[in-house]
Amino acid sequence: MKKPWGGRFKEGTAKTLEEFSQSISFDKRLWQEDIEGSRAHAKMLYKQAIITEKELKQILKGLSEIEKEIKEGKFEFKEELEDIHMNIEKALIEKAGSAGAKLHTARSRNDQVATDLRLYLRKKVNELIELTAGLEKTLVNLAEKNIDTIMPGYTHLQKAQPVLLAHHLLAYAWMFERDRQRLKEAIKRINQSPLGAGALSGSSLPIDRLFTAKELGFELPIPNSMDAVSDRDFVCDVLFSGAMLMMHLSRLSEEIILWATDEFKFIELPDRFSTGSSMMPQKKNPDPAELIRGKTGRVYGNLISLLTTMKGLPLTYNRDMQEDKEPLFDTIDTVSTSLRVITEMLPEIKFHKDRMKEACHGGYITATDLAEYLVRQGVAFRIAHEITGKIVLYCIEKGQSITDLSIKELKNFSDKIDEDVYGILTPEGSIEAKISYGSTSKKSVKEQIKLLRKSLKG
Ligand code: ARG
Repeated sequence: MKKPWGGRFKEGTAKTLEEFSQSISFDKRLWQEDIEGSRAHAKMLYKQAIITEKELKQILKGLSEIEKEIKEGKFEFKEELEDIHMNIEKALIEKAGSAGAKLHTARSRNDQVATDLRLYLRKKVNELIELTAGLEKTLVNLAEKNIDTIMPGYTHLQKAQPVLLAHHLLAYAWMFERDRQRLKEAIKRINQSPLGAGALSGSSLPIDRLFTAKELGFELPIPNSMDAVSDRDFVCDVLFSGAMLMMHLSRLSEEIILWATDEFKFIELPDRFSTGSSMMPQKKNPDPAELIRGKTGRVYGNLISLLTTMKGLPLTYNRDMQEDKEPLFDTIDTVSTSLRVITEMLPEIKFHKDRMKEACHGGYITATDLAEYLVRQGVAFRIAHEITGKIVLYCIEKGQSITDLSIKELKNFSDKIDEDVYGILTPEGSIEAKISYGSTSKKSVKEQIKLLRKSLKG
């Protein structure tokens, strides 16, 4: 088949090269954006008197026919035509003849592919923003429901201090809140128009880039034509935002996996979101969480892949840049499905509240509260830390908890300790004694819920 660029060639393309260089198998998903961009370009060519009204009509009609055929699965995508841009252009020429042949005036596939990608990403990133908001809402609702559920908070995966489950869940809500804001930021940089940059240096024809930018809903035309066709930083932005989202999802998944173990038994996973073992009949495995954790590696890889592709490229367009699409599509797909799965699964998880609270006992989880109690009695923190440490050691040796000690025993360590100490040594007392901003107290948790809900509305 003769290529749209075949004029200066004497021989056809080797079949091996056609197979090697095609991108239609994956960039066909840009068809809608490609047509949208072409419509805007054609309207501009007419407005600038570069094509006639009749030609515009023929182009628009042809594009609509192609659109319908693709939607109905009747369009034949051809590998010999390399990519989505040439597949659609060739079909248009078949339908609209010489008018179709004018569509590519003052346009190159270089500005075309950048335009398609930006249109595609604007839509997809907005979808990711919605999905992330959905997850945040789910976490906030769960936090609200668990405002009285107490559990151990950990550092080094060792029991550290009691916290509200709500506080723990909201920690994740805040991470996803930042991820959502990060995606919103990315949209600002995505939403700029490369169309009309041509191959790299612009055009000698009287095109109107402001018009096409407006027509396509872009904020502005990119001011430098070389920059417009050669950078993929906006794709990297999305790959990074996706990688960060997956990192947060993976940590949450890891906790779900851990909490569902027989050793922790903090949660029971819904049957609907668990899988069995082909050999061990008793097993109920947390596969969705493991898959999210596992897929995170691939999403990180996608970011490194494109950064590496881009690092040595001289300006402007190089064919290497075709390698931007597969990692990008994979990240978009993986992050979207991971968000969907976890958001659907979370509300179905059963929290074993008694077991969580029970886990606060033993392990001297309120020792820090005792030290702060002593500080309130005027003891310097380092001394208070030392005294409390000694009390803990004494308890370990006696196999008791701090609350088992009599006031007389406690006073042997410091005469600043009084009866009222017992109140702050329970997990509930410890949590409610927290008065600092952003702490685990119920008041702070309620405030966080309010802040998150406000941001989700805005
Ligand atoms: N399929 C190409 C890509 O994805 C489109 C641009 C091709 N441009 C070119 N000069 N060969 O990057």
